This record gives sequence, C-alpha cells and structure tokens, in this order.
Amino acid sequence: MTNYKICLLPGDGIGPEIIAEGVKVMNAAGAKYGVTFACTEALIGGCAIDAAGTALPDETLEVANASDAVLLAAVGGPKWDTTDPAKPRPEQGLLGIRKALGLYTNLRPVQIFSALADASTLKPEVIDGVDMMIVRELTGGLYFGKRERFYDEEGAGALGARGQRAYDTLEYREYEIERIARQAFEAARKRRGKVTSVDKANVLETSRMWREIVHRVGAEYPDVELEDLLVDNTAMQLINRPADFDVVVTENMFGDILSDEAAQITGSLGMLASASLGDGVALYEPSHGSAPDIAGRGIANPLAQILSVEMMLRYSFGMTEAADDIKRAVTEVLDEGWRTGDIKDAETPADHVVGTVQMGDLVVAHL
Ligand code: IPM
Ligand code: MG
Repeated sequence: MTNYKICLLPGDGIGPEIIAEGVKVMNAAGAKYGVTFACTEALIGGCAIDAAGTALPDETLEVANASDAVLLAAVGGPKWDTTDPAKPRPEQGLLGIRKALGLYTNLRPVQIFSALADASTLKPEVIDGVDMMIVRELTGGLYFGKRERFYDEEGAGALGARGQRAYDTLEYREYEIERIARQAFEAARKRRGKVTSVDKANVLETSRMWREIVHRVGAEYPDVELEDLLVDNTAMQLINRPADFDVVVTENMFGDILSDEAAQITGSLGMLASASLGDGVALYEPSHGSAPDIAGRGIANPLAQILSVEMMLRYSFGMTEAADDIKRAVTEVLDEGWRTGDIKDAETPADHVVGTVQMGDLVVAHL
C-alpha cells in the first residue's frame, strides 16, 4: 500500500473550511486506488503571525520539507493588513515558502466548465473553447529583487515630506529564464503545441534577455509554435481572443496580473487551482484568496481546493486516473446543477445552492 505524506497549510479565512473538503476528496480518491495519505498540519500566514510572530515559522518549513507534497488553502485578511515595513504580513509566508522550496514554476490552468459558461462577463462566442495554461515564473523578478525604503535630503521638508524614497528591482538570471521556458515548451507539447511568451521587450532589458533565451530554448522544440507578445497587448488579447492561447509563459509580476485577468474570463475564480513546482516537494493551492468576509460561515466554494488536490495527484504522484476521476466528478456535480453561492445564478433553484461541506460530499459521491 502506497502512503504519501502531505503537509497541510490551511492558513486564514475560509482556508480551514475548504482544505477539509480537499482532504476528504483526496482520501476518497486514494481509497479507490489503494493509496493512503498521512497529513500533518502546519501554520502559515496570519494565523502563524498570531501564534508565532512570523508568517512562516521554521517548523512549517520542516514539515513541508519532510512531506511528499504541500496542500495550501489561502492566507491573509484585513486583520494583518499593513504598509509598515517593520510589521509581518501574511503574504510573506507564501512568498517565503515558494522561495524556500524553490518553486519556480507556477502552473495556472484556465478552463471553462460548460455548466458555468454563463458566469463569464464575456460573450459566449468569445469564451467558447478557452483552455489555457499560464506558466508563471515564481521565484524571481520584482518579487524577490533588492528593495529598500529610506530617507534622504532630496525633497525633505517640502509639503511636510520627510524625503522618503523606495525602490524595487527586476532582475533575472539566464538559468531562471531557461528553466521556466523549458517548462512551458514541455507543457505545450502535452497540449495544443503553442507557447505565447509575454514580455515588455520594447522597454525592459530583462525582457529583451527573456525573449532571446526563450527563443533559444524554443529552437529545441521545433514542433511547438512560439509567439512573442508584449504584456500590455496581452492584457487586451486575453479578453479579445482568449481561446487562441494555449500556454502563456511570463515573468513573476506579469504572471500575477495576467493570471487574475485570465481567471476572470471564466467568471468563476472559485474554480481555479494552481500548482507550484520546483525540483523537489511541490505545492498546490487554489488561485483565489482567503475571502475573510465569508470565513466561518460554511458557504465557501471548495472546488478550487479540490481541483488543487487533482493537480497534486497528477503532478506529484502520477495518479492520472484518480486525477481524471476528480475532474470528472466536479464536472458532473456542476452539470447536475449544484452550486455554491459564488457560482449560482438567477436560474439556480434554492435547493441546489449548497454549502462547503455538502459540495465536498457531492464530489466524493461522484468519485
Ligand atoms: C498570487 C497572489 C500572491 C502573489 C500574493 C498573495 C502575494 O496574488 O498567488 O497570485 O502575488 O503571488
Ligand atoms: Mg495574484
């Protein structure tokens, strides 16, 4: 009997509620294929700040490193919002674990569940056939570059200012671009064979280097079509012709922004999962946030978390059939008309609006 060790990071807000449903589905899928999961919970984000004074306690990294995969829910909330650089912030937990585990590849699939197609704000004919994979570089660029906030003489005194200055730097090394490009081409080979590389090569030096390296790697994949697109134009094309995109590869900050835009094309952020991969333990999490406004009410949509489990089984454990089962189960539950509050519409009968736990049970029943 195979047994995998899972590090569970429920985090904040709706995190604990949705991760419980993810675990339920994970165990049910495991039971079907003779695999068991031993879960160990650890703290990350705001709850870790409250308990340990830091968003990423050392014990959490120890548990993560000793596990076969990490399942995370969400971090953050108004309680911990601050612009004071001296205070800890929940997001530091997320950024810290990405860096510490070397999770440089972030895969964000954007797909439409046909039962939910009406939820998109775009016309049905525009979103017809949307199925893309955003490959976001996750451990470099502006997010991890040198940054500083300081005071100097210039500007001091005017309008009550103390002459504050701040900067962030966008830096990439060749190998960082090379390895993410390779991930994108490999992903495209298993999909529709097209990579769109997004940059700002008309302005940024990092982007010019990005473009050169992506093309060099692309030469090793003559079977994959490669197009370059500037990031501002990409923002337009994503809503103009979303179905044309297959794999979209881009640097950390552009990927952060464009993946939210791409998620909105589906109209149901509560459905989108993500995988963060490196050379060791990988991490899986929903693309949405911690939704503090509905936390603790049992109404959050657990499907993105459940689909994160699907990605985990697929990418970390090679359990393709179990992963396909979860995907099929979710699709069937939606096709039968079951909805959580965030994905219901005017036509949803009241008796088909379900809570977090019931949605998890429905998916298990369809496995
Ligand atoms: C994401 C989130 C994070 C990011 C935040 C919470 C730090 O927006 O995963 O996209 O910017 O990477
Ligand atoms: Mg984001």
